[in-house]
Amino acid sequence: MHIPVLFNESIEALSIKKDGTYVDGTLGGAGHACEIARHLGPDGTLIGFDLDSNAIARAKEKLTPSAIRSGGSGQMCKVILVQENFRNLDKVLEEHDIQEVEGIFLDLGWSSFQIADASRGLSFQEDGPLKMTLKDNPGEDDVTAYDIVNSWDEKTIADTIYTYGDERASRRIAKAIVDWRRKKPIITTFDLVSVIESVMPRKPWMKTNPATKTFQALRIATNDEYGALGETLEKGFERLKQSGRFAIISFHSGEDRIVKNFFRDKAHADLATLITKKPITPSEAELAVNPRARSSKLRILEKI
Ligand SMILES: C[S@@+](CC[C@H](N)C(=O)[O-])C[C@H]1O[C@@H](n2cnc3c(N)ncnc32)[C@H](O)[C@@H]1O
Repeated sequence: MHIPVLFNESIEALSIKKDGTYVDGTLGGAGHACEIARHLGPDGTLIGFDLDSNAIARAKEKLTPSAIRSGGSGQMCKVILVQENFRNLDKVLEEHDIQEVEGIFLDLGWSSFQIADASRGLSFQEDGPLKMTLKDNPGEDDVTAYDIVNSWDEKTIADTIYTYGDERASRRIAKAIVDWRRKKPIITTFDLVSVIESVMPRKPWMKTNPATKTFQALRIATNDEYGALGETLEKGFERLKQSGRFAIISFHSGEDRIVKNFFRDKAHADLATLITKKPITPSEAELAVNPRARSSKLRILEKI
């Protein structure tokens, strides 16, 4: 199960108009998406994105008139679901002849369904193929974590682990990866954990696993997460109506910095108003039921 994070705060942040058009770029378990749909009337539109076909299937199942309008009474808003990267927002809006939208919501990162699925190769705690793609069914042209560790050069791997994982041992880990793959390919998550532990042995007093930062960096790099976010902020802002809102939940400092700087620049240029000077974080009550919410931060921007 995936418990939506900062649920009421996100819905309030969007200040939903009944007949508006809203983008949920990250359907996941469709928790936020269903609530957005509940706030929309029959003239409203919800456009949902996810790269993961399982998320699209879940959203299709949950976004039904009977589930959204309790008891099956009343009409539901129009729903458009696309298995696409949210960075292609402009293309999708054009395909549906939509010029502008009232709100764009992003709840970045991974759903609990994805993290729990060992076949996605996201976790160092489970053995699985080194995939790490947001797409559950990556094609030949999609980069996987396997491609990165088995074919990128040592310096690029070190820079990636340092930049996206903030890992100070990045050079040692990159060298160990390249030394290992000279003998045999690094195929599974546990292979990669063994490589990392060969230069950073696990000690009983360590609070976090030595593989934590490298795995985070590889997930970000595999999916060009920061590139996609930056592109979406630019394209999305263009498509926001006057008084339209961005509401974005991030989970680590790198992505939060991108959102914070973009919002600040638009506010300084008098193009938008910062609704949140400081990000909204989860209450103690939320953390008690959903520890996954711990590092979440919600930022809101309104276009002028
Ligand atoms: C944290 S979950 C969203 C949870 C959702 N708000 C809910 O209520 O269940 C993030 C989802 O966004 C998707 N995602 C992340 N980055 C994406 C991108 N660039 N394009 C499309 N989907 C993306 C992931 O596949 C995942 O399903």
